[in-house]
Amino acid sequence: MTLPRMHFDAARAADPLSAFAPRPAELWLEVGFGGGEHARAQAAAHPEAGLIACEVFINGLCALLSRLVPEGGEASAPVPGNLRIWDQDARVLIRALPDACLDRLFLLFPDPWPKARHVKRRFVHPGLLPEIARVLKPGAEWRIASDDPTYQAWVAEVLAAQDFFAGPPPATVRPDGWPPTRYEAKALAAGRAPLYWAVRHRLSG
Ligand SMILES: C[S@@+](CC[C@H](N)C(=O)[O-])C[C@H]1O[C@@H](n2cnc3c(N)ncnc32)[C@H](O)[C@@H]1O
Repeated sequence: MTLPRMHFDAARAADPLSAFAPRPAELWLEVGFGGGEHARAQAAAHPEAGLIACEVFINGLCALLSRLVPEGGEASAPVPGNLRIWDQDARVLIRALPDACLDRLFLLFPDPWPKARHVKRRFVHPGLLPEIARVLKPGAEWRIASDDPTYQAWVAEVLAAQDFFAGPPPATVRPDGWPPTRYEAKALAAGRAPLYWAVRHRLSG
């Protein structure tokens, strides 16, 4: 099987770069990779970065793994040395990571949880921001994309009310260096208008 060969072992969380071979210069994290299009593209384009890609949806995990290795090669085909998979809740991993270890965080088209009673499930949440800020290096970039009007307004509101992250207003066109995702393609085909935030962890926190 491919997953055991690419799985990010929780025992590595204290020294996450040790999970990669060779040890990369930077550590990146993607939350909710869906079919894995963005994770694969980033890992291929940036061999200097080790990317931990998180996804709990089994079909997404299978989609990524099946694109990484040909059928029949699950046990032996080469896998990217700079890509590791976390198949549980990304928040569990984030809580286990050391301070200031991440150079970049990707949150692309997260589940919007539009109902008011589900607000606590949103990944962009005032309660989680201190923990996200803790694991990001000063100056590290956090990329967020959403096509959901409720979530877009929510991200703008949450970012405006905190001091951990700063950045320009969101872009309305996907910036260079942001590989496309399947969910984004669906949103565009349905006529929805994504927003793309790139905020940085403030140097002083
Ligand atoms: C709307 S999909 C977007 C997928 C992908 N980023 C894209 O743009 O195509 C959101 C994904 O995030 C995953 N997800 C939600 N919460 C998560 C969490 N706490 N940890 C890991 N994955 C999560 C879901 O399983 C789902 O596949």
